Amino acid sequence: MADQADKTSQQQDTMAARHIAIVMDGNGRWAKQRMLPRHAGHRAGVKAVRRTVEACVELGIRTLTLFAFSSENWGRPTEEVQKLMTLFVEALNKQVPELNEQGVRLTIIGDREQLPADLVRQIEASEAMTAGNERLHLVIAVAYGGRWDIVNACKGLARQVADGELAVEEIDENRLAARIQLAGPGDPDLFIRTGGDSRISNFLLWNLAYTELHFSDTLWPDFEQQELAAVVGGFQGRERRFGKTSAQVTGDHA
Ligand code: FPP
Repeated sequence: MADQADKTSQQQDTMAARHIAIVMDGNGRWAKQRMLPRHAGHRAGVKAVRRTVEACVELGIRTLTLFAFSSENWGRPTEEVQKLMTLFVEALNKQVPELNEQGVRLTIIGDREQLPADLVRQIEASEAMTAGNERLHLVIAVAYGGRWDIVNACKGLARQVADGELAVEEIDENRLAARIQLAGPGDPDLFIRTGGDSRISNFLLWNLAYTELHFSDTLWPDFEQQELAAVVGGFQGRERRFGKTSAQVTGDHA
């Protein structure tokens, strides 16, 4: 009976989404539909971020990882890039005290060396302020690329080998995973991309190996709690086999 209870609780654990990763696409098109400048779409995108954080807290999600700015986004027009950087500083400055009160811990992943100094200062202050919080871990990827992440992790291992701390033969998936940006929070259970395109776009390439994928036509500024709740609900019906058979995962060998 106890065994059965354990098995049931394990199955529930594997079914519930704990970590959600989102590619927030569609801000530009949302603005265009309203004949507004693209930046208005990004501003509306910040409001959608706020709503989504609230929704995750309510749904009991433990970690939310958001793709705010990719390594490739540096190639956008200079004015859009500069306005986005300013928007990130403003959004952190305004919203982090409130997030802190709600028990949200904030971490930024990505290549900080590429970011303006005022944004790096704001990031460091925000991370320090919220470091002890445990209700929801909000991870924001800025100047982030999945390929950069893997190369960065490899460089770390290569340095250890060069310094004589590690043998090449000792390199394995665990050692590499420990150097990937999401090493702390771990792999997402559920990936959502808004905006109608069905691609990963260089997000979390290492960590999405066994993540369930969901693509939504909704433009990011229109993304609402109800849709998130429906996607999270749908996730519970998926059988995650991690390469095993259905019988192995469910324990149903009938
Ligand atoms: C992609 O939509 C969106 C971005 C490149 C920026 C995302 C940033 C935010 C939502 C603001 C988040 C702020 C914080 C503090 C996390 P797009 O511009 O590519 O849209 P399009 O495909 O319709 O042109």
